[in-house]
Amino acid sequence: MKEENGLEALRTIWLGRRFLYLEEVDSTNDYLKRVGAGLPHGTVVIAGRQSAGKGRMGRSWSDGGGGCLSMSFLLQDLPTGRMPLLPLVCGLGVKRGVEKVSGLAASIKWSNDVLLGGGKICGILCESRLGKENFAIAGMGINLNQTREDFKTATLDYAESLFLATQKKYDKLKVASAILNEMEPVYEKFLQQGFESLLEEYKSSCVTLGKHVRVIIDGKSREGEALDILADGSLLCLIDGEKLPIRAGEASVRGLYGYI
Ligand code: BTN
Repeated sequence: MKEENGLEALRTIWLGRRFLYLEEVDSTNDYLKRVGAGLPHGTVVIAGRQSAGKGRMGRSWSDGGGGCLSMSFLLQDLPTGRMPLLPLVCGLGVKRGVEKVSGLAASIKWSNDVLLGGGKICGILCESRLGKENFAIAGMGINLNQTREDFKTATLDYAESLFLATQKKYDKLKVASAILNEMEPVYEKFLQQGFESLLEEYKSSCVTLGKHVRVIIDGKSREGEALDILADGSLLCLIDGEKLPIRAGEASVRGLYGYI
């Protein structure tokens, strides 16, 4: 385990000031869950490889042969009630960072997939430990250097990487620094002024709005139109003539035609 700060381009005040690089770990989220209580707020963990990377809704997450930046950070100051909005906030931070390093416009598929050129470049998994130890973990997998072959092997049909989008190879720690530099002010704005203060940016980044979507709620598939995003982060959908707010974390949304 390397403890020196290899995030040379970091300009943050607290995020990533404590940094752990693990050559191999089961999951950076699980690692922080185990040891997070003893670590400072803003600690960042990056893995060379994850042997048991986790995705949302109980799925696994492949790091595509090490081509993915697997990173988690620890938050000791997030009120529990704000937890459901953390994935959306992180989506904005990653989107800004990906745009900085690639020079391309990225977007967000509600609730928290970051897209580049219509493919998924980043997935986000936020978790918390509540009780005596009280902290949140934000985990993100950003596809950096995978080729189309890497994605085919892992049967990731809708994935995109920075390499595929720009034909350049990326350094994990440089991209991590760029994302953390963007993440810190987004997170602080969220804490101080609420998600309302980020809502317009979120909506204008969100490709799900206005789309015909299939929503899986409690295992049941329903179709409708995505109308709006509300201040609590839910996606307002018109389904069978009824406006239903779909809460992040409770539903999986797919566009009917393709990934979005
Ligand atoms: C998803 O889209 O399903 C979320 C994927 C989240 C993957 C990241 S990689 C770093 C962190 N550690 C994990 O085990 N998962 C998250």
